Amino acid sequence: MSQAIHEIKRRRTFAIISHPDAGKTTLTEKLLLYGGAVRLAGAVKSRKSKQYAVSDWMELERQRGISVTSSVLQFDYQGHKINILDTPGHQDFSEDTYRTLMAADSAVMLIDAAKGVEEQTKKLFHVCRKRGIPIFTFINKMDRHGKEPLDLLDEIEKVLSIKSYPMNWPIGRGREFKGIYDRATSKIELFTGTGHGATIVPTRVGDLSDPAITGAMNESVYNLLKEDLELLDLAGDNFDLDLIAKGELTPVYFGSALTNFGVGAFLDSFIELAPAPHEKPSTAGIIRPEQEEFSGFIFKIQANMDPAHRDRIAFLRICSGVFHRGMTVKHVPTGKNIRLSQSKQFMAQDATIIEEAYPGDIIGIFDPGIFRIGDTLTEKSNFAYEAIPKFQPEIFARVHLKDAMKRKQFVKGIEELTDEGAIQRFRHPDIGLEAPIIGAVGILQFEVLEYRLKHEYGVDISLEHLPFSLARWATGNNLTPQMLKTGDNLVVKDDDGNLVVLFRNQWSLNWEMDRNKQVTYLEHPPTQ
Ligand code: G4P
Repeated sequence: MSQAIHEIKRRRTFAIISHPDAGKTTLTEKLLLYGGAVRLAGAVKSRKSKQYAVSDWMELERQRGISVTSSVLQFDYQGHKINILDTPGHQDFSEDTYRTLMAADSAVMLIDAAKGVEEQTKKLFHVCRKRGIPIFTFINKMDRHGKEPLDLLDEIEKVLSIKSYPMNWPIGRGREFKGIYDRATSKIELFTGTGHGATIVPTRVGDLSDPAITGAMNESVYNLLKEDLELLDLAGDNFDLDLIAKGELTPVYFGSALTNFGVGAFLDSFIELAPAPHEKPSTAGIIRPEQEEFSGFIFKIQANMDPAHRDRIAFLRICSGVFHRGMTVKHVPTGKNIRLSQSKQFMAQDATIIEEAYPGDIIGIFDPGIFRIGDTLTEKSNFAYEAIPKFQPEIFARVHLKDAMKRKQFVKGIEELTDEGAIQRFRHPDIGLEAPIIGAVGILQFEVLEYRLKHEYGVDISLEHLPFSLARWATGNNLTPQMLKTGDNLVVKDDDGNLVVLFRNQWSLNWEMDRNKQVTYLEHPPTQ
C-alpha cells in the first residue's frame, strides 16, 4: 500500500480553463515540452502550416481549427506524474468542459495579458469555484503589449471575486519582457534564449544585488520592478496555502507560452502547491484515495475514437485503490461485473495499454454499451460518487433521416451520441424515434452531430430547427401530453418516458405555470 500512497502523493491532475485564443493549446504543448513528452514544440502545432496540436484528434477539429473533445495527457516532471485534462475551447462545447472539470483536482486559469478576464474564463472559473478546487492563474502573452500587471490583478479580484497572490513578477513588458522575479526567494530568472519557443528556454538566475543580473536590465525596467515590488508588499494579499487549497486565493504567474518564458517557473511552483488527489464525497460517505478498494467515476464517453474500430471509450477518473489490467469491477448502476482488459491511456491519438493506474489517473475503458456519464465503478461496494450536472439544452431541432434504408445506423448513431452527452434526445409521444428531437447547448453541437452521423455512421440528415429555448420536465398527478399541450409549446418525452415540455421562452413558461398550477416544471428529470 505504501507504493500506492507514494503514487497518489506525486500525482497532479488538472484542467486548463480559458477563453478561446488565450493560448491554451500553446501552453499545453509547452508543458509537454518541459515534461519531456514532446521533444520540439512548435513543430506540433501551427494551424496555418497544417500541423496540429497533440491534443486535437478529431477530423472536424482539424477542419475548423477548434478543439471539440477533451483528451488527457500524462507526463512525468521532477518526480511528479502530471495529468492534464484538455478541454474544448469553444463555448458551444462548454458542457463537455464542465464535466471534465469534475475529474480535475485543480485548475489553471489562463489569461491573455492584453484581454484580461474574458467571458468564457468567467463561466469556467465559476464552475471551479463552486467545486472549491484550487485555481492557479497564468497570465500569458507577456511578450506582447498588454494591460499592466497590477491592473490585471485588480481585474481578477473585481470580476471574479477571488483574492490573488502574484508568485512572481514580470521584468519588463512586451518586447522588453526579460525575466521574472520570484517573490518567495527574491531570485531573478533572466531569459537568455532567443525566445522562439521550440526548446526549453535557457535562463540565468541571480538576485537584485547581482550586477550581472541588474546590468542586463535597462534603468526604467529596473525602476519599474522596484516600484511594483514595493507596492505589492504594501498593498497585496498575503500568501496563504489554506486559502489556495480552498480556491479562495489564486497564485498568479506571469509568462509567455509562445516564447516559453516563465513556463518552467510556473510548472516548478505548480507541482509544489497543487493538491494531490484527495478524498471525495460519495453516497457512502467520504472515500479516501488510499483506501484499498478500487473506485472511480466516468466523466466522458467518446464513440468511434478510432474509425477503424467502432468502439466506444469511457473515460474513468480513478478515485481510490489501484487499477490493475484485467481486473473485474462492478458497474454500480446495473450491478454488473465487468473485466477491464483493454484499458488505455491516451496521448491524443496514441493509446497505450496500461498495466496499472492510481487515483488521479484517467483511463479509457472499453464501453460495452452500458456506461453513462457519472456512473461509478467499484470493486464490490455499492456507493456512488456525486452526480455530474447536466446542462439545460437551449436550442432544439427535429432530425430527419434522408435515406430511409439507413434507419438502423441512424438510430444507433443518435443513441451513441446521446450517451456521449453531446446532445439530448427527445421524442414526440406519437412518432417515436423516427424523427427525434435533439436539444443542445450550442449550435456547433448540431454541426458536430451532422458531421459525425455522416462520417462515422454513413447517415445523411437534415435538421429542422425548432423555435424553443427551454426544456422543462413536467410532474403532477396522471399527466397526459394533452393536458400539457398549448398553442405554442411542444410536448415530448425523454428516453425514460418522462414528459418534457419545450417552451419558446421564459415568458411562455411563466404564463403556463400561472395557468396550470397542478403541474410542476423541473429543470432536470424527476429522478436526478
Ligand atoms: P487556444 O488554444 O487558447 O485557443 O489558443 P492557442 O494556443 O491556439 O493560441 C492562440 C494564438 O495566440 C496563437 O496564434 C498562438 O500562437 C498565440 N499565442 C499563444 N501564446 C502566446 C504568447 O505567449 N505570446 C504571443 N505573442 N502569442 C501567443 P495564432 O496566430 O492564432 O495561431 P498560430 O498560427 O500561431 O498557431
